[in-house]
Amino acid sequence: MAPSKSTLLPLLGALPYASAWGSLGHTTVAYIAQNFVCDKTAKFAQSILNDSSTAYLANVATWADSYRYTAEGEFSALLHYIDALDNPPESCNVVYERDCPEEGCIVSAIANYSSRAVQKKLGIVEQQKALKWVIHFLGDIHQPLHVENLAIGGNTINVTFAGVKTNLHAIWDTNIPQKARGNFSQAASLAWATNLTTEIKHGKYKKESKVWLKGMNVKDAVDSAMVWANDANQYVCSTVLPNGTDVLFGQELSGAYYETAIPVVYKQIAKAGYRLAAWLDAIVEAAEKGGHGPGKGSKYDKRGDFELEPWMQASREARMAFGGDCGCSAEEHTH
Ligand SMILES: *[C@@H]1O[C@H](CO)[C@@H](O)[C@H](O)[C@H]1NC(C)=O
Ligand SMILES: *[C@@H]1O[C@H](CO)[C@@H](O)[C@H](O)[C@H]1NC(C)=O
Ligand SMILES: *[C@@H]1O[C@H](CO)[C@@H](O)[C@H](O)[C@H]1NC(C)=O
Ligand SMILES: *[C@@H]1O[C@H](CO)[C@@H](O)[C@H](O)[C@H]1NC(C)=O
Ligand SMILES: *[C@@H]1O[C@H](CO)[C@@H](O)[C@H](O)[C@H]1NC(C)=O
Ligand SMILES: *[C@@H]1O[C@H](CO)[C@@H](O)[C@H](O)[C@H]1NC(C)=O
Ligand SMILES: [Zn+2]
Repeated sequence: MAPSKSTLLPLLGALPYASAWGSLGHTTVAYIAQNFVCDKTAKFAQSILNDSSTAYLANVATWADSYRYTAEGEFSALLHYIDALDNPPESCNVVYERDCPEEGCIVSAIANYSSRAVQKKLGIVEQQKALKWVIHFLGDIHQPLHVENLAIGGNTINVTFAGVKTNLHAIWDTNIPQKARGNFSQAASLAWATNLTTEIKHGKYKKESKVWLKGMNVKDAVDSAMVWANDANQYVCSTVLPNGTDVLFGQELSGAYYETAIPVVYKQIAKAGYRLAAWLDAIVEAAEKGGHGPGKGSKYDKRGDFELEPWMQASREARMAFGGDCGCSAEEHTH
């Protein structure tokens, strides 16, 4: 979810406003989580974030996307995704040792920052950053193209959306959600969150949401996040590029493609909010009970512990050369 690099800012006037899950998706995820966390978790988060307003999680949901563009926060850009070196559309899977390099990825970051968020000894400033990252990364890990290496997470697949030149990654982050719910605003996010919360509690997700927490284990953050990553990654094969990449180049995707994508976007945003609430409850509870908070898991330090095949090495290098984001659609960002 990528606001553009400042070098592209001169283009802003020429291109329509788009906001990096974009701000709309992330803020919606945070509002949904607010509807499900228990009181103790809400108090903890309000205190760490120094915000007792009715938007205490929503207000910080996109901080990580601004921070990654600061000199201080640059290191965190690669923590917004895990680049699955799988083979869609034939086979989709995420493997921690293979896909999370030694430098880290969204899965190791969720483990690291979930633990740091509840460690009082780190001090409020570090705890606050850690909590903001957890809130953001639980959103990103539900975007199928944040758990896929192919075409650099879809960034190099040029398409148009409602006539505007963009790419596959950006339309999943922003254009598809905004076509459904309108441009980003706190109010649009709140309305969407209210819609999805009702669907979870009483509507079309009532039954299936019972299994959304399967595999979540506060003693093993890596295993938990890998369940979420693999879940989202399945949609790369089934929905994002079921007929491969070649058929997508240069296509207009705001029609039939949008119609197949939008139910998945709704469901992934709902899941992300629901899981974020449960995960925050779990880490707060674990910190209170055990003193140590959540466990990172036995695989945590095994990232990069895999011999990559030559094509995988090349794909990894292509991503590194490209950088963390697309930088190809003008997206407003503030530091
Ligand atoms: C908390 O917020 C209040 C009001 O915005 C501000 O005055 C105070 O300095 C903040 N405290 C911390 C620890 O950030
Ligand atoms: C965990 O987060 C801290 C703070 O950002 C960072 O200094 C540290 O390197 C991280 N640990 C790992 C293993 O990435
Ligand atoms: C895709 O679009 C970008 C930005 O407009 C451009 O730089 C790039 O050459 C295009 N790639 C292809 C394969 O057309
Ligand atoms: C979204 O913002 C763009 C650019 O400001 C504007 O052209 C468009 O009409 C807006 N869409 C809606 C649905 O408000
Ligand atoms: C949520 O929004 C969708 C799409 O507009 C709509 O079909 C559904 O009825 C809404 N659900 C609720 C509970 O309002
Ligand atoms: C993939 O191909 C099938 C069969 O031709 C078609 O029904 C479907 O719409 C295509 N999906 C996408 C996303 O291109
Ligand atoms: Zn992000």
